[in-house]
Amino acid sequence: MATLSEQDAARAVLRWYAEMGVDEAVAPSPADYYSWTRAEPGAAPRIEAVRAQAAADAAAEYAAHEPSALSTDEAIKAAEAAAAACDTFEALDAAVKAFEGCPLKAGAKNTVFTDGVPGADLLVIGEAPGRDEDRLGKPFVGRAGQLLDRMLAAIGRSRDDNVLISNVIFWRPPANRTPTALETAVCRPFVDRLIEITEPKAVLIAGGAPLQALLGITGIMRARGVWREVETMGGKRYPALPTYHPAFLLRQPAGKRLAWADLQSLDARLKDH
Ligand code: URA
Repeated sequence: MATLSEQDAARAVLRWYAEMGVDEAVAPSPADYYSWTRAEPGAAPRIEAVRAQAAADAAAEYAAHEPSALSTDEAIKAAEAAAAACDTFEALDAAVKAFEGCPLKAGAKNTVFTDGVPGADLLVIGEAPGRDEDRLGKPFVGRAGQLLDRMLAAIGRSRDDNVLISNVIFWRPPANRTPTALETAVCRPFVDRLIEITEPKAVLIAGGAPLQALLGITGIMRARGVWREVETMGGKRYPALPTYHPAFLLRQPAGKRLAWADLQSLDARLKDH
């Protein structure tokens, strides 16, 4: 039986990864393969050596960004104290960026806090940064974000003029998985303070994850379109409207009809007195 050369085997593995949807390396930072010195000059590195070097690099990288040494309770308390100390949007922005209590930060390129107009009367809260957001340090800048922009434009809203956008967590989860309850709990004091400082007329809750994190409700299908109140840790209440996440609408365009009804309800509330 013919055996594959190491290069052919490596190509086959890469092709298989691509077919499986793997589109990026998972180490916290990119590996500079050209700086590796183990291979003989001119020789292709052996696959075992490549793997061993990648594992060593990843371990060194994780050690350099040692995940938060705080327990979850300690991290939540630290977030509460840091958020409570902020009286302005600028102070809160700096406090989130300086916060080291969320382990997701170790694997993220950027902190993704807000985009748009601080103090806007509409605050949109989504789930979590994805790859594009992590790369650019701004929420909702990928395909879902472009759809969100078009939805908001349909009711005369834009992040340049009259919307502030954020998420329930500020660092990209590995492989874009849904944030865990502990991760959202650690970020929640900052989200609450953001709501209190913004004092929006309405909070648009985009999707099931922020619905669960902010209102403790599961089931976006039934919850969407129904006005509720989000209560912050400071005991203040703000009108909140759950709707579908734009990434869901990209996959299920039939949901746009109901999302449009939600946007009209939002528009009416924002124009009310
Ligand atoms: N999806 C979200 O929920 N938030 C983002 O910032 C991007 C995509």
